[in-house]
Amino acid sequence: MIIALDGPAASGKGTLARRLAEAFNLAYLDTGSLYRATGVATLRAGGDPANEADAVRSAKALDITTFSPSDLRTEAAGVAASQVAFIPAVRAALLDFQRNFSKNPPGGKAGAVLDGRDIGTVVCPDADIKIFVEADLETRVKRRVKELQEKPGNTIEARVVRADMEARDARDKDRSVAPLKPANDAFTLDTSNMTADEAFAQAKAHIEKKLKR
Ligand code: DC
Repeated sequence: MIIALDGPAASGKGTLARRLAEAFNLAYLDTGSLYRATGVATLRAGGDPANEADAVRSAKALDITTFSPSDLRTEAAGVAASQVAFIPAVRAALLDFQRNFSKNPPGGKAGAVLDGRDIGTVVCPDADIKIFVEADLETRVKRRVKELQEKPGNTIEARVVRADMEARDARDKDRSVAPLKPANDAFTLDTSNMTADEAFAQAKAHIEKKLKR
């Protein structure tokens, strides 16, 4: 079974994906971490994440095991990720890894949950379940600020987070290759007024209903 979860930054899809993977005993891949790692690797090599040659070199040489979650969850990593993700040749370089994960999930699992922007439309167009997770901008800004404030020594302001998020949303939605949009057959879940538990319960109910058909 393949579950594809797509949606904008801080929509709640990562938390939901992790919980669904646990509930249905599936492997989990956060595909945003591949783009984040490519962005961070490009910066570490002294390159420019918006430069095609620099970003493609990093994507092709990517070893995801060399990055810790704290390397990848910074605001700067998110911005660099959305820049490299804009480049079609970077997306092509990361596609095989994602498809291979979905077809041969690690740990002997019977399937996988992948979350990202183009899982239901490009990476796994035949996924059994597709969910598009949304939330309004204000809610997403509040969630991201809270997440950043939980890290020691973080002083980033809400207006900076909002500006970054708007710029990233625009880059994700307006790019020519694999833009952020719901697949035609996706179930849309707006989590703006939901707790993580409520979002999980609704997604689980949707999946169980589909599996019974
Ligand atoms: O979900 P995230 O914030 O970790 O994603 C970081 C960036 O990577 C985001 O700006 C869009 C990009 N991305 C993408 O283009 N396609 C994916 N499947 C996953 C992430």
